[in-house]
Amino acid sequence: MAETMNSPASNGDTFSGAAPKPKKEFILNAFVMNTPGHLAPGLWRHPRNNTDQYKKLSFWTDLAQLLDKANFHAMFVADTLGPYDVYKGPANVVPALSSGAQYPVNDPLYLVPAMASVTKNLIFGVTASLTYNQPYALARRLSTVDHLAEGRLAWNIVTSYLDSAARNHGLHEQIPHDERYAIAHEYMEVVYKLWEGSFRDDAVLADRDTGVYIAEDGVRQILHKGKYFEVPGPHFCEPSPQRTPFLFQAGVSEAGNGFGGKHGEAIFIGGQTPEVTRNTVESIRMVAQSEGRDPEHIKVIVGINVIVAATNDEAWQKRENHLKYADQEGALALFGGWTGVDLSGYSDDEDFNLTDSLRIRSIVRRWSSTVPGTENLPWTKRRIVEYLSVGGLGAKVIGSPTTVADELERWAEISGVDGFNLAHITNPGTFEDIIEFLLPELQRRGRFRTSVEKEGAAAREVFLGAGQKRLPEDHPGSKYKWSAGEKVPRYQVEEQKEVPGSEAQAERQPVV
Ligand SMILES: Cc1cc2nc3c(=O)[nH]c(=O)nc-3n(C[C@H](O)[C@H](O)[C@H](O)COP(=O)(O)O)c2cc1C
Repeated sequence: MAETMNSPASNGDTFSGAAPKPKKEFILNAFVMNTPGHLAPGLWRHPRNNTDQYKKLSFWTDLAQLLDKANFHAMFVADTLGPYDVYKGPANVVPALSSGAQYPVNDPLYLVPAMASVTKNLIFGVTASLTYNQPYALARRLSTVDHLAEGRLAWNIVTSYLDSAARNHGLHEQIPHDERYAIAHEYMEVVYKLWEGSFRDDAVLADRDTGVYIAEDGVRQILHKGKYFEVPGPHFCEPSPQRTPFLFQAGVSEAGNGFGGKHGEAIFIGGQTPEVTRNTVESIRMVAQSEGRDPEHIKVIVGINVIVAATNDEAWQKRENHLKYADQEGALALFGGWTGVDLSGYSDDEDFNLTDSLRIRSIVRRWSSTVPGTENLPWTKRRIVEYLSVGGLGAKVIGSPTTVADELERWAEISGVDGFNLAHITNPGTFEDIIEFLLPELQRRGRFRTSVEKEGAAAREVFLGAGQKRLPEDHPGSKYKWSAGEKVPRYQVEEQKEVPGSEAQAERQPVV
């Protein structure tokens, strides 16, 4: 299995016959979580690993400085809102305990101001669920942090997928999948109105001579009344540098892609091969186009796990060494949470490709059949544990700097992704290796930036270009913008037109 994780085509010559294309620099993010065992259950006790220090601010500020200095684009912090309790369940957290498999998990948003204060350019992409946070409150928390981070905040919008999260947030079971996305669309309308439409662009004067902090006609209620939300507003925070924080999104279903193609500005996807990933990339860009957006305004970033060392042999040895610390119970707890499947009733060596349960066969096959080079191998519990323990479900790239750089270039060429979300196995460890071995090779090939375009740029500027702090005009949130000189935001004028005789009333609406 070992050699098959990297494609045999990754020899650097793959495209030598084609006309040379200008090389695009990759976006590189570090993928982390505020927990001892993100995607490497059991590895917290590896001698190189310090993830048990996740509760200490210095653990995070050290990492942020390391990534900032190396010119990483962003730190992407995952988050969930309940434990992985399906395996040996229902509602059993015990298998996740020894390994710290995404349990316990601290809130990621609190980390950002401290990390921003010791860095200049790194962007912080923080996951927050819109299924379990009221829009008015979340809009306020995100604005506060966008202020403190001086615009270096991105929000990873998720609708959440764990029953344990639903049970602990007042629901007996999860809201059905597609309805979560229907709610999410209306939720975004509410937060766009708060962020973009309740303070006019020139509302905040902070004029010491006149004693006026905010112009009295510069703030309006949003008066949102929809199917799921009723929020009068106005927003409780003054506009932050980006107003709407740069929007990350991760979703793979049709409804998820529909949501991402409409609202997402950087989309995070999974995928085992660049060929399959290409379909996802194309589908996201098509949705964006159908929503009237420039598909190139959306950055698509694939999750990948890299183990790199001076030579191929050393990289593979590193993987073997990591596996010694892998925790089977923790890996199966993660698998249970991600898929909803409890594998506890099966022996270690049963091949799930042949198992009696149609449901389990199809779930395991759907994922395992895409892992390159394993088509004729049995997919047993043992193999699932081995695969998951060193970087989770994502694709694995293992080898020397040349091998890994070749493979990332192949991924980008075939799939059309803009960059990579790099998972870690140990921290410190994985990112230091990437910085020491891989980045110089990528930089030599013109594939990774050696400096930033603009010091202290906002998140949106880093991903879309200097000067682009606010939502681009083709983004659906832009229609809620309230420009200087407009008495009433355009969207409210449009909404009022739908209610006969109420245009004058819109102008008379009390400011707050
Ligand atoms: C790279 C990546 C990162 C993700 N991070 C999170 C996360 O931190 N929290 C979360 O609840 N879901 C996360 N997800 C899951 C997605 O939000 C989504 O639930 C999942 O991809 C299933 O997609 P669907 O809802 O469109 O079916 C992530 C997915 C991907 C591909």
